[in-house]
Amino acid sequence: MEKEDVLILAVESSCDETAAAVVRNGREVLSNVISSQIELHKLYGGVVPEIASRKHIEKINQVIREALEEASVELSDITAIAVTYGPGLVGALLVGVSAAKAISFASGLPLVGVHHIEGHISANFIENKELEPPFVCLVVSGGHTHLVVVKDYGEYEIIGRTRDDAAGEAFDKVARAIGLGYPGGPKIDKLAKEGNADAVSFPRARVGDSVYDFSFSGLKSAVLNYLNSCQMKGEEVNRADVAASFQKAVTDVLVEHALTAVKEYGYDKFAIAGGVASNSALRAAFEKACAKEKIQFYYPSPIFCTDNAAMIGVAGYYEYIKGERSGMDLNAVPNLKLGER
Ligand code: KG4
Ligand code: ZN
Repeated sequence: MEKEDVLILAVESSCDETAAAVVRNGREVLSNVISSQIELHKLYGGVVPEIASRKHIEKINQVIREALEEASVELSDITAIAVTYGPGLVGALLVGVSAAKAISFASGLPLVGVHHIEGHISANFIENKELEPPFVCLVVSGGHTHLVVVKDYGEYEIIGRTRDDAAGEAFDKVARAIGLGYPGGPKIDKLAKEGNADAVSFPRARVGDSVYDFSFSGLKSAVLNYLNSCQMKGEEVNRADVAASFQKAVTDVLVEHALTAVKEYGYDKFAIAGGVASNSALRAAFEKACAKEKIQFYYPSPIFCTDNAAMIGVAGYYEYIKGERSGMDLNAVPNLKLGER
């Protein structure tokens, strides 16, 4: 390690992934350890908060130890500790926050609280070394659908958001309705490849008073109504066609709103982030639309799209070099707003 290197040990436990990572100078991931609870929550068709918290407690120390080992560093090499403190499940967040505070207290290392969505956005900096703000970013995850202007590192303006379900939530609910199980996003992605996206005409919802806001609950209801009416008529449902048509309806709206924003704000760079950003049809649609409009399109590898600590290490680095520090009073904030500290 060079003496001037800034090494961030990052911790993430906001939902059902217990994760720790070591990131050098904000852009280089030295380790990225993720212990997923998906198998456990599958039994219940979704994340059970109490089970998530208990599992985080079991795993957190081991995951942090592995992250240091994999990076071949000791705690004494670390510059600061970054931890997700919101938004997310309060009990789950508390495990990571408490672990990070304990390490900070025992070692004397500075502590930096990180916003989970800032982490998702920052995942784009890992593999796209040339990417710098300003740009527009679409954050699409299980809990969020935000259209964000990234003005500078750590400086955001949310210009569009969902009025009801998040995009990932819609994927998960539709997947459940067609019997695919949890988590639905990757399963719909896979099944849709065998289906016809024009087979069923689902609505592309517009929110009357905002060109950038989203609404997915109507689309979800339209899928459920379609399934019901097929059942009542005794018609067999082609699940691949439903998956492909639903996915196209979500993708069309996301692409239309995001590109309108990029053009309207006059930027030539656009990025996607969050679990749904790993969707293959969404990536392909943005690839095509951005090429047509001569907009540079950025996206993280799937492993950096879904929850991980490397992205928290990147966001933590930029907060750290700006001088942001958290005290021992850092608390989990389940509904933390982007841009607030
Ligand atoms: O970012 P993430 O791991 O957790 C949150 O912060 O919410 O996102 C999880 C969400 C889930 O709803 C999951 O179904 C969705 O991302 N997802 C996908 C895909 N992979 C994960 N949705 C569509 N296509 C995918 N390939
Ligand atoms: Zn997330």
